[in-house]
Amino acid sequence: MINSMKNLMKNRICLVTGGTSGVGRAIAAGLTELGAIVIIVSKSAERGAAAVKDFRRKTGNSQTFYRTLDLEKPDRIPRFVEQFRQEFQTLHVLSNNAAVFPRKTEFTPGGMEKIFAVNYLAHFVLTYSLLDLLKSSAPSRILIVSGSPSILKYGKINMDDMPPKKPVHPFRATYLAALAKVAFSYELARRLEGSGVTSNTFHPGLVKTNLTRHFPWIFRIPVSLAQIFFSQRCDTGVYLASSHEVEGITSQFFKRKKIVSFHPKQPLEAYASELWEKSKQWTGLK
Ligand SMILES: NC(=O)c1ccc[n+]([C@@H]2O[C@H](COP(=O)([O-])OP(=O)(O)OC[C@H]3O[C@@H](n4cnc5c(N)ncnc54)[C@H](OP(=O)(O)O)[C@@H]3O)[C@@H](O)[C@H]2O)c1
Repeated sequence: MINSMKNLMKNRICLVTGGTSGVGRAIAAGLTELGAIVIIVSKSAERGAAAVKDFRRKTGNSQTFYRTLDLEKPDRIPRFVEQFRQEFQTLHVLSNNAAVFPRKTEFTPGGMEKIFAVNYLAHFVLTYSLLDLLKSSAPSRILIVSGSPSILKYGKINMDDMPPKKPVHPFRATYLAALAKVAFSYELARRLEGSGVTSNTFHPGLVKTNLTRHFPWIFRIPVSLAQIFFSQRCDTGVYLASSHEVEGITSQFFKRKKIVSFHPKQPLEAYASELWEKSKQWTGLK
């Protein structure tokens, strides 16, 4: 790494969900390399501590930490946010990546379909609860991982069927959650206009993943083989979190560090605002 890059993110406070694996881990590692103060959100203290140890060892950046939060339990988010606020007082980058992919439909303790609940809804609550901190820390950035824009553009969300109540195939649920995240990013940008807080979504590229960890070995073997071609890095995510080139850029879809034009068949304006309001109702946010 070029020496001047090592301090690009010095004193910038970044909160990264999913920081123990896959996209989140790649982004957290990249930001640690750039000198940021990185806090990863981890469901397990053990995995969080192991990831932090690895980041510190590889980069020498001791300003990297983990804090535990189970995103399946959104009622724990307010306390997590309060503790984060007291401890760090500032937030420059919120990077939303945590995700689940169970073998078949599962429901959270609150009775919500798990993929929609963790991948999208928990991040809605977390982000919403951190908005005032992001605003007071501006310029600040929110980044939300979604998926391939060329696939997502054909998607449709029927608000009457949200949140998914009946069993829904994990691939379908992942697709719906990714679409919801794109709409969420768009709506965030609209509501945050002029605040100094930007919001963008991105396709991470092919990043080494543990998403299929609950699948039978017969399915995991080909996935593991394919992962020979996957990267340990997520350059687009790190770029969005750190580069001066994207300062002030908001409401965009990024792929390979470039803005892609995204014109879905169902325009985001058609449902993004309703999704926002309903998400507040579903989660009891005031
Ligand atoms: N990887 C890719 O190439 C790729 C490509 C396109 C899109 N995406 C999208 O990117 C997202 C992330 O995928 P990934 O590859 O990073 O998956 P991953 O390797 O399975 O990582 C998921 C992360 O989420 C965390 N997590 C899961 N449940 C949690 C909970 N209840 N509370 C807190 N954290 C929780 C996991 O923590 P623990 O393991 O510690 O529980 C892990 O750190 C997915 O939505 C996926 O569709 C990924």
